[in-house]
Amino acid sequence: MAEEAAPHVLLICYPGQGHINPMIRLAKRIASKGLLVTCSSSSIVRDKLAAASGVSAGGDGVLVGRGRIRFDFLDDHFDGTELDLHNFLRHLETAGRLALAGLLGRQAEAGRPVACIVGNPFLPWATDVAAEAGIPSAVLWVQSCAVFSIYYHFVHGLAEFPREDDPDARFALPGLPALSVADVPSFLLASHPYKVLGDTIQDQFRNMGKASWVFVNSFAELERDVIAALPGVRPRPPQLIPVGPLVELGGHDDDGGVAVRGDLIRAADDCVGWLDAQAPRSVVYASVGSIVMLPAEAVAEMAHGLASSGRPFLWVVRPDTRALLPEGFLDAAAGRGMVVPWSPQDRVLAHAAVACFLTHCGWNSTLETIAAGVPVVAFPQWGDQCTDAKFLVDVLKMGVHLRAPLRREAVREAVEAVTTGPEAGAMLANARSWSAAARAAVAPGGSSDRHVQAFVDEVSRRAR
Ligand code: UDX
Repeated sequence: MAEEAAPHVLLICYPGQGHINPMIRLAKRIASKGLLVTCSSSSIVRDKLAAASGVSAGGDGVLVGRGRIRFDFLDDHFDGTELDLHNFLRHLETAGRLALAGLLGRQAEAGRPVACIVGNPFLPWATDVAAEAGIPSAVLWVQSCAVFSIYYHFVHGLAEFPREDDPDARFALPGLPALSVADVPSFLLASHPYKVLGDTIQDQFRNMGKASWVFVNSFAELERDVIAALPGVRPRPPQLIPVGPLVELGGHDDDGGVAVRGDLIRAADDCVGWLDAQAPRSVVYASVGSIVMLPAEAVAEMAHGLASSGRPFLWVVRPDTRALLPEGFLDAAAGRGMVVPWSPQDRVLAHAAVACFLTHCGWNSTLETIAAGVPVVAFPQWGDQCTDAKFLVDVLKMGVHLRAPLRREAVREAVEAVTTGPEAGAMLANARSWSAAARAAVAPGGSSDRHVQAFVDEVSRRAR
């Protein structure tokens, strides 16, 4: 297909790291099959993406496989006022509707009319803009199918959710293991400080039924039971189409390498050289992703726990948390531990020196550790992380839980349990077998690859 004639797909997402990464990785999968893909988000991330990842809007973009990826941003005119998530999303909607319509017009004028818009559940209005412009749309759900099912049951009042005063109670949903209150996305609990998120959760389902495709960052083999159970739920949820895991596999995913990245903080690439100097399967890698803020006591306990683990460690302490490190810790840790503001996590998890991942269990990190075959110490903080941790430990059996409030001895014991404990060998074997399944799903002809191909074929057919 001549490049000028390639159908054009627009992907837009909420301006958060946990949303930008799966968007860019889906863009790579689509572009590698010959389409032109534009990635977009709010203009508030434009400068960070430029500084940390070299992303710039306009121009010819980057060649990826047989296609091309470009960037364009939605000008949101933020004046810097602090808004809670609910009001932030309202602002994104008001400004974003206009900006998206403008972007569609610009692309058409430039001879690149958009053939399909792939939105994000935090931006349900994108589906309206697409419909008004006569363009088909899709949605990318960036959490697990399990979390989708739990939220869906909650929104439609289809299940009795566990009460916080009864931590031992279990409740059942089709295709899911019995869940306790600790395993439910915490935004559903009455006591959660961000209860406003309840409205946001509800909103994620708005317009989803109008989309022609609902993609999910997961793979059929990983969540077979819940995927099989969803069509039996009434009212019937939209069909989830797994296209993941949307992870970087170090050159295995036909995406033209890692030339296009979406880091909002510049990654400390020198940590890969530091890993090169460590023994195989010796290092504890620890990170709580892009948003979780640990309290000062937890940071101190983590520091002492990692230091006393007897292993080298690579710890991501974001710039907004660095001041919480115990005094003198960095000097004391020098030599055995490395602390970085942001890591190239895909390369770190793929490194032979990494023995385990102490993770907050954000869904991207969860999929990345599954794809890399690295056992986990699961330390969820809120939201879907609680369900992801349950899944990693009790369903996939590739790690152990670490519970708050954090204690240094518990950090050391958990690291020991996944690296040298009696179950460590079985956990590693499970992690490796899930890694093989993840890679097979996105390899040519794998379950997720076929779903992406079917989408590309359908968009190309409709654009003819
Ligand atoms: C958010 C929510 O917190 C999470 O619960 C939800 O599932 C997705 O959106 P976040 O907390 O940032 O995401 O976690 P996660 O989903 O793991 O995404 C973080 C991303 O940043 C991952 O792709 C990870 O590889 C990347 N990362 C993280 C780095 O590249 N370097 C780092 O040092 C840390």
